[in-house]
Amino acid sequence: MDKLHLLLVFIYFLPGCFAFVDPISMGVVVGTAATSAMIMLAEISGLYSIRCKTNLMECCNEHHIKPNMTGLQHDLSTKLYGQHLVEQTVYRAVKHHLYNPNPSKALVMSFHGWTGSGKNYVAQMIVKNLYVNNLQSSFVHVFNAEVDFKHQHKVGIYKDQLQSWLHGNVSKCGRSIFIFDETDHMPMGLVDSLKPYMGNEPLIHGVDYRKTIFIFLSNTGGKEINKKCYDTWQKGNSRRDIKLSDMEEVLEQVAFNEKSGLKNSGVVEKNLIDHFVPFFPLERDHVESCVMDEVRRLNARRLTSGQMQEIMDELQWMPKTVRLYSKSGCKKIAQKVGLVVLD
Ligand SMILES: *[C@@H]1O[C@H](CO)[C@@H](O)[C@H](O)[C@H]1NC(C)=O
Ligand SMILES: *[C@@H]1O[C@H](CO)[C@@H](O)[C@H](O)[C@H]1NC(C)=O
Repeated sequence: MDKLHLLLVFIYFLPGCFAFVDPISMGVVVGTAATSAMIMLAEISGLYSIRCKTNLMECCNEHHIKPNMTGLQHDLSTKLYGQHLVEQTVYRAVKHHLYNPNPSKALVMSFHGWTGSGKNYVAQMIVKNLYVNNLQSSFVHVFNAEVDFKHQHKVGIYKDQLQSWLHGNVSKCGRSIFIFDETDHMPMGLVDSLKPYMGNEPLIHGVDYRKTIFIFLSNTGGKEINKKCYDTWQKGNSRRDIKLSDMEEVLEQVAFNEKSGLKNSGVVEKNLIDHFVPFFPLERDHVESCVMDEVRRLNARRLTSGQMQEIMDELQWMPKTVRLYSKSGCKKIAQKVGLVVLD
């Protein structure tokens, strides 16, 4: 006998079971039983999948988690400027992790670089090309250290909270993503409370974390990355020739030693971070591309070269002598374009 028949037999005999109770409460009991039986029947007969399909509820399956690797590659190569290492690393890492039905550990990436170089933007690209509901998805968790973990003295509370959130959320959906912005401002020791969930452990209290993605964003190492780019430029070489291996070791060292959420952390020490991803500082060409994107987005007329110059002049450039890199990358470009275009 399958579940459905068992259920029908159960409903059929139900009134008999409660013959000794008074009629009113019996009515309630039978009513409740019938309702829950109907819900169960609905679940069995596939209403569950209809609810997923019609967006009545977000489901942890192919209805709401649809990896679009072409989309990610497209976004990384056409909407991000001056970041060849990010393009390669992030695309490969995410693809490899998503297409592996049994990943050996959670995917952990640490994005480093100056403000406005695109760290947040890339994290959002990953989310957009993975979850149908984008940032609104209940499987996407974004924390900002300066808002969510402000006080060093509360690190104990934060640790418990974070672990319980992880357990709660990942037990609902293994393919969850956790993004930690401003990691450099995270209280020391907090990241280490995540350590158990990033390793090769198949189950922790019955939950498998190996399909989960963790991303840390920080400015830590920005100085070193910028210096590497500048040195390369001074030698007359192209920054596109800088290899990931040239940067990874530096970043690992910096992350571990500089004041940041990853300082002295077991997460770094135990090699739980799979990829240290360097974001390069943006040159004038790159910032101009961001400007043109915004102009297109606003459906505005083409900018005149005078207007472009006006926007460039509003930005601060470094080093002071050669004005090579935008101090704030492409951050706030949208507002600046808005001002010029609407003027
Ligand atoms: C994947 O992304 C590409 C580029 O953004 C888009 O053209 C395509 O329709 C997407 N595919 C699916 C199945 O959503
Ligand atoms: C999931 O994480 C969020 C924070 O993003 C938290 O507020 C919520 O309580 C967590 N859910 C569970 C079931 O633990």
